Amino acid sequence: MCGIVGGVTNKDITTLLLEGLNHLEYRGYDSSGLIVLSKNNIFDRARSVGKVKNLEDNLKARDNKIKGNIGIAHTRWATHGEPTINNAHPHISMNSVSLVHNGIIENYVELKNDQLTKGYTFASETDTEVIAHAIDFAMKSCSTLISSVQLAIKSFSGSYGLGIISSKYPDQIIAARKGSPLVIGVGVNGNYIASDQMALLSVTKEFIFLEEGDIAEIKIDKITIYDLDGNLVDRPIKTSNLKPGQTDLGNYDHFMQKEIFEQPQAIRDTLESRITNDSVLISAFGDKAEEIVSRIKQVQIIACGTSYNAGLVAKYWLEDIAKIPCNVEVASEYRYRHPILLNNTLFITLSQSGETADTVEALKTAKKINNNISTLCITNSAESSLTRLSDLIFLTHAGPEIGVASTKSFTTQLVSLALLTCSIGKIKQVINKKQEREIVDGLKRLPGLINEALLQETQIKKLAIRFKTKNSALFLGRGTMHAIAMEGALKLKEISYIHAEAYPAGELKHGPIALIDKDMPVIAIAPNDELLEKLKSNLQEVKSRGSQMIVFEDENSKVQELEAMEVIPITSNLGRITAPIIFTIPLQLLSYHVALIKETDVDKPRNLAKSVTVE
Ligand code: AGP
Repeated sequence: MCGIVGGVTNKDITTLLLEGLNHLEYRGYDSSGLIVLSKNNIFDRARSVGKVKNLEDNLKARDNKIKGNIGIAHTRWATHGEPTINNAHPHISMNSVSLVHNGIIENYVELKNDQLTKGYTFASETDTEVIAHAIDFAMKSCSTLISSVQLAIKSFSGSYGLGIISSKYPDQIIAARKGSPLVIGVGVNGNYIASDQMALLSVTKEFIFLEEGDIAEIKIDKITIYDLDGNLVDRPIKTSNLKPGQTDLGNYDHFMQKEIFEQPQAIRDTLESRITNDSVLISAFGDKAEEIVSRIKQVQIIACGTSYNAGLVAKYWLEDIAKIPCNVEVASEYRYRHPILLNNTLFITLSQSGETADTVEALKTAKKINNNISTLCITNSAESSLTRLSDLIFLTHAGPEIGVASTKSFTTQLVSLALLTCSIGKIKQVINKKQEREIVDGLKRLPGLINEALLQETQIKKLAIRFKTKNSALFLGRGTMHAIAMEGALKLKEISYIHAEAYPAGELKHGPIALIDKDMPVIAIAPNDELLEKLKSNLQEVKSRGSQMIVFEDENSKVQELEAMEVIPITSNLGRITAPIIFTIPLQLLSYHVALIKETDVDKPRNLAKSVTVE
């Protein structure tokens, strides 16, 4: 949700700013811009509407003359104000302060009214411009840039990740974070800031992760950090294990395609050191995991989007296998109601980014409601707001996911939740050694099973053509497959812009069956489980209303025998844990190929951003 990059070096910074923006484009791509302090400490700025490519073209048209040793840049996901040049960052106040912002200043109207009385004028409709003016105003009474920022920030309510430069202080960048991620890259010939390490991997692997409320003064050879209360603090430098190539496309056409095909390896990485030959290591959830799990009596899962769908699958597993009550809720609802949270609850947040604002706030809300709960976050991001706020941390090890549509983060979340289910079941003594071994065997088979499911791509590609002229689609499943159907529908919506809904197959007759006609493709998932016969009856009900049906089945489900259905065998004889993970694969491939046919921007679908760090 907006990407920030900046740096102060002894070389020209523009190339790095552009490169960084390209790596951050997954965070938003409505407009982008950069600003440097040129030779005589004059701001030189370029901004463009649309993708970073447009900014690059804009700079080329200006003969790439924007150059300087200090600069900041931004790629935007619009919240306040449409994606226009004037609303694009960086914003400037009085030719003295310029900044880029990720987050929302909630009291900006009040601040703006006050600043208008002080003679400030506004060039944009954003909430961000008030920050620039507030800092400029504070500079009149403060002797340093950082003290001006510290003073100005006191008046903001909301969230911010900020990169600030000033023509009056040409040797420094000020970085500040509250509610939005920001890292400092520690380099040899300079120091840098970014919303995400990926933007800076070409210049450094050493990072300082700012904590909530931190403000840093960054010079070419010195970094000074203060906490929220103004105390000088020492934050550790950590070495990133990300490799620059990990964020490249390689031989693939799209990141989503690459990430779908990376799933076997991502799952191997997630399982590594978390299982032995025949058992799950509870300690993988942290040193205190065994003690915490032995105390808990129920589980509450909170997440958004794809992560929420993973939580829905886990509810079936936790209640069915680990015999522990489990509720799942979307974070944006949970945070604003007044839920009852019993003692001995394990409160789990699921999030690829670890930064989703609703999920972070829901966790904070839960802690306020009942401080006796234990918290676990399952995330793909080691240094994130959620990891900082949780008692137990489990990293999914999916590797960087760049495509806005989540794929490998979903299947690795499911693997993590399967390990959790097994751990809880073991501690509560409701699963025996044999059952544990079966779960572990199933998990170990997953990479091979996914590779087999991926072999159906050619057939799925042919089916995708049918969606070219369709406006809606319905996904059906029962049990855990209802959650997988939800994930399939979300994928199709996100990247092909076809309206899609998922229903538990048994619920269809209570209303949605009225939608069925020849123009409504229905996609069903038919594993060979105890609900198969019920599902087959539901499919007959749909077929007799003239729908074009596509069924992804277990070979032994024998849906083939029903007429007028396109049936694609995906696998055979899967268990309760492996089946939902494997049936996810054809749905990912289907949405990917429909998006290609519809010629949408697969990795950067309209109106979306990868990490939703605002409400
Ligand atoms: C999934 O394809 C979406 N991009 C989106 O629903 C995403 O899962 C959601 O925003 C939650 O993100 P998180 O996992 O990073 O918290």
